[in-house]
Amino acid sequence: MRAKDIRAKAGEEPVTMLTAYDAPTARVVDEAGVDIALVGDSVGNLRLGYDSTLPVTVDEMASHTAAVARATEEAFVVADMPFLSYGADETDAIERCGRMIKEAGADGVKLESGHHTIGLTRRLTQLGIPVQAHLGLTPQRENETGLFRQGTDEESAREIIDLAREHEDAGAFSLVLEHIPANLGEAVTEAIDIPTIGIGAGPDCDGQVLTVDEVIGLSEDVAPFSRTFGDVRGEMEAAIGEYVEAVESGGFPADEHSHVVEELDDIDTE
Ligand code: KIV
Repeated sequence: MRAKDIRAKAGEEPVTMLTAYDAPTARVVDEAGVDIALVGDSVGNLRLGYDSTLPVTVDEMASHTAAVARATEEAFVVADMPFLSYGADETDAIERCGRMIKEAGADGVKLESGHHTIGLTRRLTQLGIPVQAHLGLTPQRENETGLFRQGTDEESAREIIDLAREHEDAGAFSLVLEHIPANLGEAVTEAIDIPTIGIGAGPDCDGQVLTVDEVIGLSEDVAPFSRTFGDVRGEMEAAIGEYVEAVESGGFPADEHSHVVEELDDIDTE
């Protein structure tokens, strides 16, 4: 899958996108036919034990992106650029985004977007690095906005529509819209030709994205706009509980899990 294939899906076929943070999960995501595997900076709170995405480093993103890229054959792999790795110095940002492609094997990068990412989106696109923009709730700004719905009044809704157009014009191949009213999701989707991929942005976006931990039922917290389709946490609790019980009761390992070498029967332990 290439950026141009994803762009071509706008208004034609739904785009499916799901996060993946490690190789085994990425393999399942890929084999299920997901179009875009996003190595989200949500790895910070979902897998690395941070309270937010803010502490996630470029090295951590490169490591998780490389694991996902190694396990993926068809899906387009997007590396989420972490807080402050872009937006200050353009040369540094290009080098860090380039690292995700050259070193980690990503196919494109995602930038939590605003006025500060229009020029960078244009430059990266010119250089051959596909950029996915991200508007609405952008968790890297949580100290400023909180993790609340965005675009709920006319002025901020208009700003999101304007920024969407500017990022399309700068070359972004798709746009994530997070936690905005469904009718604003619809309006942005009508206003631009690249696919909009919603997370809490209503049913009229061109595609949908969720975190894999919520979809499979691994995370304890589930956003109100999200949906859990499985119970992996329950399966893990049952399996790990049974393992502990089996070891404590002497039921594991059994004969079939062990092997004996006869000549060691009389080994001198002095
Ligand atoms: O980091 C992430 O998982 C994301 C998605 C929620 C879009 O940015």
